[in-house]
Amino acid sequence: MLWRMRALMLLTGVFCMLYFGLQPLMELYEEKPVVAAPEEVVFINTSECHVSGPRKPAAYFMAIEPVCRLRCHMPQLIIAKTQGGSNFLVGNGVAEDLQCRYWLKSAGDLRSRKYLPDGHFDMRNGAMEEIRVGTGHQIVRIKCSNQSNETRYHDVHYFLPPPPEVQSKATSSPEKMSVIVLGIDSVSHMHFMRYFPLVKAFLENQPHTKFFGYSRVGLDAYANLVPFLSGLSSRDLQSKEGTWLFQNFKAGGYSTAYGEDRPRDIFADRKGGWTPPRQLADFDLTPVMVEMETHTRYSIDLKERILCSAGRTFQEVLGDFVLKLVPHMQQGPFFSFFWQSQGVEEYYEYASHLDLSYMLLLKSLLDANVLNNTLLLLMSDHGLRAGNYRSSFQGMREESQPLLVAMYPEWLKQQYPMAMENLEKNAHSLITPYDLHETLRDVISLGEMQDAHIEVRRNNLLSCPKKKIPRAVSLFLPVPDHRTCDLAHIPSLFCFCRELTEVPTDDGLVLRCSRFLVESINKLVKPFGRCRRLRLKMVLLAHFLDFGEESFVYELRLRVRTVPGNGEFEATVRLSDAILLTSPISRVNHYLAQSHCLSDPDFKIFCFCM
Ligand SMILES: *[C@@H]1O[C@H](CO)[C@@H](O)[C@H](O)[C@H]1NC(C)=O
Ligand SMILES: *[C@@H]1O[C@H](CO)[C@@H](O)[C@H](O)[C@H]1NC(C)=O
Ligand SMILES: *[C@@H]1O[C@H](CO)[C@@H](O)[C@H](O)[C@H]1NC(C)=O
Ligand SMILES: *[C@@H]1O[C@H](CO)[C@@H](O)[C@H](O)[C@H]1NC(C)=O
Repeated sequence: MLWRMRALMLLTGVFCMLYFGLQPLMELYEEKPVVAAPEEVVFINTSECHVSGPRKPAAYFMAIEPVCRLRCHMPQLIIAKTQGGSNFLVGNGVAEDLQCRYWLKSAGDLRSRKYLPDGHFDMRNGAMEEIRVGTGHQIVRIKCSNQSNETRYHDVHYFLPPPPEVQSKATSSPEKMSVIVLGIDSVSHMHFMRYFPLVKAFLENQPHTKFFGYSRVGLDAYANLVPFLSGLSSRDLQSKEGTWLFQNFKAGGYSTAYGEDRPRDIFADRKGGWTPPRQLADFDLTPVMVEMETHTRYSIDLKERILCSAGRTFQEVLGDFVLKLVPHMQQGPFFSFFWQSQGVEEYYEYASHLDLSYMLLLKSLLDANVLNNTLLLLMSDHGLRAGNYRSSFQGMREESQPLLVAMYPEWLKQQYPMAMENLEKNAHSLITPYDLHETLRDVISLGEMQDAHIEVRRNNLLSCPKKKIPRAVSLFLPVPDHRTCDLAHIPSLFCFCRELTEVPTDDGLVLRCSRFLVESINKLVKPFGRCRRLRLKMVLLAHFLDFGEESFVYELRLRVRTVPGNGEFEATVRLSDAILLTSPISRVNHYLAQSHCLSDPDFKIFCFCM
């Protein structure tokens, strides 16, 4: 009961004397390996933080739950094509006579409900004819029926205008580097290593850096992408005026694009006086997704989370969008943000189905020579947040270690040797989305990456007092070795730098803190008046967090189950004169329909509706 004695020592004030007296006892608690140790991957190795983990822990083998390769089962009878500035619909394996109607939206109306007057055409058995529907930026919905008036095809297509002619490339302003963010939700670094062998092999032949020490700073995609895209925490954003990277890049002379594989984007349903990033982009896939969601979608999985329109999954529609933008990316500086979440959030094994498509996507970008002038971030927001594997200790840890890989052209290293050397050396440092934001700000003004500038900035950073290093450090600078989770603004719940000691769940202090945690949840949802009051059913797991010798702080990391509804929650609580929460509260099992009565995503996870 060492942890408990130490906690009590704090409370009784004889801390220093006893604490150091008890040090040798720590060794008794060292865990001994049981069988041959599985292959270890070192994530972070700095003076303040060491994180490593087994590549394939026992829990991994237990959690495997193969999902069948899910395919859309409706035929893709029509494909879209843009040629010579005009948009065409082309028959694709039509095996009967069809009558088709279509509804168009053009550039100005993409986000509204307004259609242009509808059109129709006939498509004969075996037809390959091309139906011209217009020019430029367009969304078209098509519905085709057979002779007995049965719907055989219902789908949405999207056309992009060709990029504007550039007068002369030679006179273009100083060189600029494009940026592509390719996000896959809920993929931890380790998950990537296990399930993306093709992408990994592809990367081996390209200059890249894997950031093993990339940590999440918030619970969900929103709480991690707000720091990345605005430099503010999601809490700050409620009161402060944030600037999104889309605005920064725009001001720097870039074109911008936003694409997600779902109609309700990451920033939907969130409060604040800001404009959602997608609305700031020159190209936005969301209206297409909304059109599909409203008219043509169907689901192919049991949980109804993987959607198709005709023969394509929403994920494939997102992939098409990326490729459609290639001519624009080739033309001039371009900032694009793509995020996929269908399937990966829900199914542990789903990531393995994505490997090939992402490898092919990267290859297309490489073949189009887009990557020669692009910093590409292949990234995630956090690991898997619920399910069997998440219940294991390693699964819990991986949740806080999202994937982050940066790809860049070889010439960048010659042009900016110091900046790029720093970037590569940060591979095993503790880093966050705040740092990424700072990094991309540097990319906008490449001049900042010249050796002379980097040297000055590096010296400024290293001369900072230890406790005063800024929250955000550009990855083109050396991230200070003594950075801790606190200095990086990583809440305790997401920090695995510290030693965790498992403690008995029936301990009085653990129970007290657990009840406090459940009461905190009740307080959060009380104002809504629609949620049942939760009670502590049992404490599932408790860990004592060691803050090191100099600290007078003690924290417990708890996992509790509540009734009604059997919700499982995790949080860290700090023990001092009073008990207080030091992290957001995380829901670690699915809540499905329990929470239908609330829509606010910050509170929904807690609510068991009356
Ligand atoms: C961690 O870093 C230290 C010092 O830089 C080094 O001696 C040690 O071998 C590293 N450990 C691992 C597992 O890489
Ligand atoms: C039209 O489609 C329906 C349902 O798919 C089918 O039962 C019917 O035979 C088709 N009619 C013709 C004329 O092919
Ligand atoms: C086909 O069905 C639609 C409604 O499903 C109806 O409005 C339309 O009149 C029908 N057309 C024919 C030729 O029967
Ligand atoms: C890539 O870009 C560099 C620098 O702009 C240029 O020198 C090189 O020729 C390019 N390579 C290809 C294959 O286009």
